[in-house]
Amino acid sequence: MVKYKFPEGFLWGTATASHQIEGDNFYNDWWEFEKQGKVKNGQVSGKACDSWNRYEEDFDLIEKLNNNAYRFSIEWSRIEPEEGRFDESALERYRSMLISLRRRNIEPFVTLHHFTNPLWMAKRGGWLNPDIIDYYLRYVKKIVSEFKDLVNYWMTINEPNAYAFMAYLYGQFPPQGKSLIKMLRVLNNMAKAHAKAYEVIHQISPDAKVSIAYNVIYFEPKNPNSFIDRKFANFGDRIYNRVFIETLLTGKFSSPFIKEEIPYAKNTLDYLGINYYTRILMGLKMGSPEGETSDFGWEIYPEGIYKVVKRFYGLTKKPIYITENGISDAKDEKRPKYLISHLIQLHRAIEEGVDVRGYFHWSLMDNFEWAEGFLQRFGLFETDFNTFERKWRESARIYSEIAKNNGITE
Ligand code: NOJ
Repeated sequence: MVKYKFPEGFLWGTATASHQIEGDNFYNDWWEFEKQGKVKNGQVSGKACDSWNRYEEDFDLIEKLNNNAYRFSIEWSRIEPEEGRFDESALERYRSMLISLRRRNIEPFVTLHHFTNPLWMAKRGGWLNPDIIDYYLRYVKKIVSEFKDLVNYWMTINEPNAYAFMAYLYGQFPPQGKSLIKMLRVLNNMAKAHAKAYEVIHQISPDAKVSIAYNVIYFEPKNPNSFIDRKFANFGDRIYNRVFIETLLTGKFSSPFIKEEIPYAKNTLDYLGINYYTRILMGLKMGSPEGETSDFGWEIYPEGIYKVVKRFYGLTKKPIYITENGISDAKDEKRPKYLISHLIQLHRAIEEGVDVRGYFHWSLMDNFEWAEGFLQRFGLFETDFNTFERKWRESARIYSEIAKNNGITE
């Protein structure tokens, strides 16, 4: 018996990103960063999952998962390896992917920017340079004009908040900035880029649905009775969870150091893509998480997805898609429970009236996890990085049953 039934037409999918699975992305800033030995254990993405060549095999797996949607990204540096030169063969390859997905009745959700930048663009100052917005728009125009017949759902930028944080404040992603002001400037430029792309996409494809994939962390004070801990939690929440999204709702970029009216950014979301993974307890002394953790050390906190979805639905009043949710768990010991418990919490939000229309598990298969290299394994399928074989994990079996039943059985 199906105990937790999801709404009819609910989309079940997995999510990936170009640089993490395709392999041989020679012309982006990550490739360069990896060559400099900046990734854990000196690893490089190399062939990654070789999905650039094995995409049909990936899509076979998606079918075996009984999924009706798939989220992936287009690699700007493949499309435009040198400034102003668009690579027709790369466009052709993505077209073949989209056609193959459509033939299989799998709805594509396409991300236009997922952490990587063409090297030529990074050399011009990357997202710190406001001129980048126009380059980005030219690329977006190209992609949307090419694929408007095949794509209904676009995400302009993946996790602008996580990107700005990791690349400009925390310093773990290229170009390894360590400044809050830089992080905010990047967020500000990305909000403008999104807002303009929103308009451009609608001009070319009026019925398209446009959003971002937004990383939401559930912040709480380590000690709820501590004033300082509460301040830290609020600060994290404001900078990370609110500044960017509020700009797209109100047209006001309001952060501690940069405040700006961006009227054209107002109401530039057709839906909201939420990436939810964990809770972080904030305090003067960053204590360890309270609950069970993943291989990555992230706390497993299923109620967080419920709370986050309720809150952001209240804020945006837009249909919500969970565009990522998953766990690094090489042995697949905790993933089955993680998957089911998060879906039950998501179901709870739906029961209470939140308009959630789809769920994308991160990720289809183990892949290149950025600064962690191949160490952290998020896949429903295990990837053998020598043979590129994809192997079933128990979680993949469970997920295929859930998608088949459009719900969770007793
Ligand atoms: C979010 C990012 O979008 C994705 O690229 C990454 O692999 C997962 N989180 C896991 O860290």
